[in-house]
Amino acid sequence: MANSEKTKTVIILGSSRDTGNTSNVINELIKITNWDLINLNDYSISNYDYEHSNINDDFINLMCRLVANYDILVFATPVYWYSMSGVMKVFLDRFTDLLTVKKDIGRKLKGKNIAVISSSAGDNLGNLFWIPFKKTAEYLGMNYLADLHTIQGQISEIDLSNFKHNIEKTYQSLV
Ligand SMILES: Cc1cc2nc3c(=O)[nH]c(=O)nc-3n(C[C@H](O)[C@H](O)[C@H](O)COP(=O)(O)O)c2cc1C
Repeated sequence: MANSEKTKTVIILGSSRDTGNTSNVINELIKITNWDLINLNDYSISNYDYEHSNINDDFINLMCRLVANYDILVFATPVYWYSMSGVMKVFLDRFTDLLTVKKDIGRKLKGKNIAVISSSAGDNLGNLFWIPFKKTAEYLGMNYLADLHTIQGQISEIDLSNFKHNIEKTYQSLV
């Protein structure tokens, strides 16, 4: 499923380094999928603010683009202390803006689809790691399609192909 008129997929990379292990894995994934890439480090997205004084940073514009152009969002994160990266967590925290001051964009998340890919040194929480993503998807009315753990930036082409296939298969079963 290369990006087509009908189904568009974007990988959202949230790592503390642009050319590290997570980005290695994502580059391999892009070779076999041609999916688009958003690197959160290219955007100025600050911590969630109850006063919304940061509403004019890059978050809302980025989300407008994402909901307008993509059906499937693939979150790519390293494992930092058994959790998603801080970069990714800040991004996810800001989804709260879409339930409060920017509800019009939040409503467009409903029916979107997500998948997650991690990169760790080996030790991680197994399936427990995916819970924040799964529960967030459920809360926002998004479908959770698939996930994949990778170790130290290494992943076989077959595992990446299976990940792509799982995303496609689950997506197709929903549309
Ligand atoms: C702050 C920090 C915390 C980490 N915590 C974990 C961890 O809890 N479990 C694990 O398996 N690896 C952990 N690692 C290792 C990274 O997950 C691993 O090297 C990953 O592939 C790094 O991806 P990156 O190059 O995109 O940052 C940690 C690394 C850092 C920098």
